[in-house]
Amino acid sequence: MRPVLSLSLCLLLCFALGLACVLLACLWSSRFRGGFQWDGSGLEFNWHPVLMTSGLVVMYGYASVVYRVPLTWGRSKLPWKLLHSGLMLLALLLSVVGLCAVFDVHNKNNIPNLYSLHSWVGLSAVLLFAVQWVAGFAGFLLPCSPVSFRKLLKPLHVWLGGSILSLSIAACVSGINEKLIFVLKGDNHTQPYSKLPPEALFANSLGVVIVAFGLVVLRILTNKKWQRPDPQAQDAAYTPLNQEEND
Ligand code: HEM
Repeated sequence: MRPVLSLSLCLLLCFALGLACVLLACLWSSRFRGGFQWDGSGLEFNWHPVLMTSGLVVMYGYASVVYRVPLTWGRSKLPWKLLHSGLMLLALLLSVVGLCAVFDVHNKNNIPNLYSLHSWVGLSAVLLFAVQWVAGFAGFLLPCSPVSFRKLLKPLHVWLGGSILSLSIAACVSGINEKLIFVLKGDNHTQPYSKLPPEALFANSLGVVIVAFGLVVLRILTNKKWQRPDPQAQDAAYTPLNQEEND
């Protein structure tokens, strides 16, 4: 298959899986967990999975593949850089509100903070993301950033970007599992998790779709044939004249 056709199909799949993640997370919280409030109760907690999945996984994934959209090739890179960093900032804001929801619920109900492996992995992902965003903004968007810094930053930025997505997916999967273990205990008219009641089947499926989304995004990012064509590729020198195309 021609590279642009297979890339476009992969991007469509990525878009559809991202939408499915957000939809399934919203449906889990609204249909099985009673909906949304901001009152310190379990209904406030319900914002957490929805905002973390929408921000740190889906919006983050969409933002990271912006440069792979063939429509953006052959034009100035600056608008796409702005879109990339703008969507990333939105992803970061959604994640911070999602974290506020769960910390608020814990504090109002005297539940200890940051005791679980899920919370450690999740918080590391958000902190690394914040550092990555600031470094990316300073390195690639500030006109005064030196070319030598951009050159140094780029491989680190690419590696850390994929790592943060992997951490976010690990956080989502562990969070979904933890929540199901907490709520499906087999009392209060619920069947135990081990009997795979409809809620478990639904939330497990959300986890599978999140993992599939992450794998598709990582495939798009790591396939060298799908990278934005670089008009100065033959020119080994990295000068201020071609720096915008190179970073
Ligand atoms: C990238 C996504 C996610 C990140 C970064 C994340 C991060 C966190 C953090 C930092 C906490 C600790 C809050 C505190 O100690 O007060 C937490 C708690 C929690 N999260 Fe997530 N989360 C994510 C996704 C999810 C998802 C999808 C679920 C599914 C329901 C979930 C379920 C939970 C549960 C049940 C708790 C409370 C128990 C605990 O502290 O481990 N999380 N999350």
